[in-house]
Amino acid sequence: MGSVRKIATKQPTEFKFTKENLKEIDAILKKYPESRKKSGVMPLLDLAQRQHDNWIPEVAMKEIATILGMPPIKVFEVATFYSMYNLSPVGKNYIQCCTTTPCWLRGSSDIVDFTKKHLGIEVGETTKDGKFTLVEVECLGACVNAPMVQINDDYYEDLTPEIMKDVLEDLASDTKREIGSQTGRVNSLSSAGATSLLKEAKKAKITIQDGDK
Ligand code: FES
Repeated sequence: MGSVRKIATKQPTEFKFTKENLKEIDAILKKYPESRKKSGVMPLLDLAQRQHDNWIPEVAMKEIATILGMPPIKVFEVATFYSMYNLSPVGKNYIQCCTTTPCWLRGSSDIVDFTKKHLGIEVGETTKDGKFTLVEVECLGACVNAPMVQINDDYYEDLTPEIMKDVLEDLASDTKREIGSQTGRVNSLSSAGATSLLKEAKKAKITIQDGDK
């Protein structure tokens, strides 16, 4: 796991949720009985991370502990356990490259190697201009469109090094490209298109989209 999992040595001394996020916290906590409000620790950590440039400082964990009435160490334990929480600053584009078996079989090593070379960083590092951080992660649940990466909240799937180059260049110039499959695959259909249950679909008058055939 990359260095973004290490606790930042330089920590801010203050953190307060914004007014909007305090409202959001009220809405989140309504989902749990008062006696179980600690269950809101994960969504609150996520909110703190989104508010604070995609990483969670210790003061934010303390603030969450106060809101939820739990010991700060308990919040710290959750934040340090899950790799979805960054504990030190990351780049504007946080690239999580899946390297679990299906993605690996479909070439994730090439994607990682290309990305390292293209950005001039190792896994766990951030580019000098602060635009990109690269980490390797376990399965992100999009195996059928492997290999794939998650960049911030978006999935880019069916990657090759050539396509990854385009993805990175677009992001470097702040251009938003189509997310999802990069080869035109419809959702998670077979790359050969729809191949089974075609008669049944016809009988049920289900229209097969052009890209599905
Ligand atoms: S193995 Fe990569 S998304 Fe599941």
